[in-house]
Amino acid sequence: MIKFDNIEISYGDFVAIENLNLEIEEGEFFTFLGPSGCGKSTTLRALVGFLTPSKGSIFVDSKDITHTEPEQRGIGIVFQSYALFPTMTVYENIAFGLKVKKVSPDIIKAKVYEVAKKIKISEQQLTRNVSELSGGQQQRVALARALVLEPTILCLDEPLSNLDAKLRIDLRKELKRLQKDLKITTLYVTHDQEEALTLSDRIAVFNNGYVEQVGSPKEIYNASKTQFVCEFIGDSNVLSAEVLQEISHGTDYHYQDKEGFIRLERLRFTRESERDLSCQAVVSDYEFEGILIKYTAKLANGDTIFVLEKNDGISNREIGDRITLYLNPDDVLQY
Ligand SMILES: Nc1ncnc2c1ncn2[C@@H]1O[C@H](COP(=O)(O)OP(=O)(O)OP(=O)(O)O)[C@@H](O)[C@H]1O
Ligand SMILES: [Mg+2]
Repeated sequence: MIKFDNIEISYGDFVAIENLNLEIEEGEFFTFLGPSGCGKSTTLRALVGFLTPSKGSIFVDSKDITHTEPEQRGIGIVFQSYALFPTMTVYENIAFGLKVKKVSPDIIKAKVYEVAKKIKISEQQLTRNVSELSGGQQQRVALARALVLEPTILCLDEPLSNLDAKLRIDLRKELKRLQKDLKITTLYVTHDQEEALTLSDRIAVFNNGYVEQVGSPKEIYNASKTQFVCEFIGDSNVLSAEVLQEISHGTDYHYQDKEGFIRLERLRFTRESERDLSCQAVVSDYEFEGILIKYTAKLANGDTIFVLEKNDGISNREIGDRITLYLNPDDVLQY
């Protein structure tokens, strides 16, 4: 339903996005994920209409909106900074867009109350000044202000990143619930991989103005297509070409003659299949993390690897202990 077709976006001479092609389906929760400066907000701004691409076209429902005014696009937007009107009440903030559209006061009232209920803003909160609200409450108001206009697309640019960790997780769940209920096509920008993995139907991983991979959270994590994606998402051990040759020696498994990557949690203390490869290491350090224990271990050639173990309350490996680790040969990714 949204299509970015050969999009290039420049700031003066600087090309921030080069030849972007993406299709987002109706009702999808779609996330732009990537490090700072990779072009996530730039792409979103072009969709909303705050920027005009230097090349290419953007389509919504097959209609070319590349040069349509932002107000005509039916897109709601929420930023990291709440950008609310600080001297107005919550009610006035939410009602603002409808007033500008000259909607009648009765209908405005009904709509503001309806959206407030959905987003769990109490009637009492509606009468308060936004400056009296906490960050989380303000972000709810920003969301209500966008949704009251009944957009067909909702754009959220790092909406949770100013909030503390606990609140971020609570609001994340609510956002997901709301999006499911409303079935509104949502574009979400974040540099937080956990947020992207938990919220999204699909993710586009951005790097330096390019999209490296588009896929479901599982695809992105389990089958990272490029080294950049593999290193950006999750934590991996790097196994040298030499180590890979050694552990696969005498098996029917052959690796390319270069380094490979394996997610930390895919190295195990137990054999789970006949096909598992194994390697020996010596524990050199560990961190107790509560749910998990993270071991640092040295392979025979001196390379360092990390291994996770669920804290079962029994196991107590110590520094200097020899360990045997097992892995599924398919879990090693090479690029
Ligand atoms: N107004 C501007 N003028 C010139 N260059 C800009 C402007 N806005 C962004 N850029 C540049 O474009 C690139 C992409 O910026 P963008 O804001 O889209 O990144 P981002 O992925 O949203 O990063 P962040 O996670 O830090 O918000 C960066 O190199 C940035 O410096
Ligand atoms: Mg940004």
